[in-house]
Amino acid sequence: MDFSLTEEHIMIRDAARDFARTELLPGVIERDEKQHFPAELVKKMGDLGFLGIMVDPKYGGSGMDAISYVLVMEELSKIDASASVIVSVNNSLVCYGLEAYGNEEQKQKYLTKLATGEFVGAFCLSEPEAGSDATSQATTAIDNGDHYVLNGTKNWITNGGRSDVYLVIAQTDRSKGHRGINAFIVEKGMPGFEIGPKEDKLGIRGSDTHTLQFNDVKVPKENRIGEDGFGFKFAMKTLSGGRIGIAAQALGIASGAYELALKYSKERKAFGTEICNHQAIAFKLADMYTEIDAARHLVMKAAWDKDQGNNYDRSSAMAKLYASKVAMEHTVEAVQIHGGNGFVKEYHVERLMRDAKITQIYEGTSEIQKIVISRSLIKE
Ligand code: CAA
Repeated sequence: MDFSLTEEHIMIRDAARDFARTELLPGVIERDEKQHFPAELVKKMGDLGFLGIMVDPKYGGSGMDAISYVLVMEELSKIDASASVIVSVNNSLVCYGLEAYGNEEQKQKYLTKLATGEFVGAFCLSEPEAGSDATSQATTAIDNGDHYVLNGTKNWITNGGRSDVYLVIAQTDRSKGHRGINAFIVEKGMPGFEIGPKEDKLGIRGSDTHTLQFNDVKVPKENRIGEDGFGFKFAMKTLSGGRIGIAAQALGIASGAYELALKYSKERKAFGTEICNHQAIAFKLADMYTEIDAARHLVMKAAWDKDQGNNYDRSSAMAKLYASKVAMEHTVEAVQIHGGNGFVKEYHVERLMRDAKITQIYEGTSEIQKIVISRSLIKE
């Protein structure tokens, strides 16, 4: 393993850092407060190539590797995790899913627009009664000749009200269990497809989360991804890459909070000296830095596995499990270091603390990551 960054890596990391500081930072508090989706900023991120980082340039993408992707995710997440989850879902759940498993026609029709930011995509697996237990899909897609008829409800869908393309997982033959599940490309505006009200969330409030309803939606057969019955494996394989993105998001939230806490502790004085000179604070900084760096190594290892063509199911689960724990614990510490100011919105750390929590929940809870890791160890 060699984690030294190439010139290309440094360029895209610096571009993301610059974009986060100049474009995402102004207005981030207001967007959080008003749950405002950053539509214009998404357009700009598309222009910079952040929405299709790993997609082949022949489909409009940036043609970069997974290391580049995690570098971008970390930088954006230091400032605005609502913006970075839009990037993560579009890149690793939607673009990757289509590029790896879609056919040429689907790639030409959808991927070319998703990779450039002309379209935004959503990934629809979770249901009211099927969150962690993803094989228990209640949404049905009944084969009706040249089309499927889709019925059911999807919950907590990121980009839910703002997407043009929705990858929807549904059960086509219950008797076959997970082998009877398929993945479909559903377009916004298809008759019978309704977008429910926006969720009022604890964190990542600038991202757009909705319940979706499918009532007798006719989905053309050519919109099925892969062979009949491939849908569950499609979801699992795609989520393995998604978990690298969320791990990098958690890393960014943690390192953003650390940078703010370090700066504050060098300015704020108590008992006649800057508070970083008190061991109580200095030791917190030492723990934060050490554990954030450990999380970074796991995130880089997972991205490196993906770039090398290695199986990354376990390394992505490990990266997400650990980075999200570090994000949760150290954003709390960043608030503590800021004292009363940490509780006030203008200091940013309280938002990072609220945003950190979701990284332990979406794209597989921490408990699910432990299932994935332990099963892979036992199978070895
Ligand atoms: N790659 C390929 N195949 C896989 C796989 C993988 N990573 N993981 C499992 N499979 C296969 C298995 O091999 C098995 O196939 P065979 O029977 O042919 O061998 C099949 O899938 C079923 O696997 P399991 O028996 O392991 O299934 P399970 O019911 O025990 O569930 C689970 C496994 C890991 C718990 C899975 O249900 C899971 O990941 N749950 C969490 C779902 C999740 O992450 N949801 C997030 C929602 S999306 C989101 O949050 C997006 C957003 O908007 C931000």
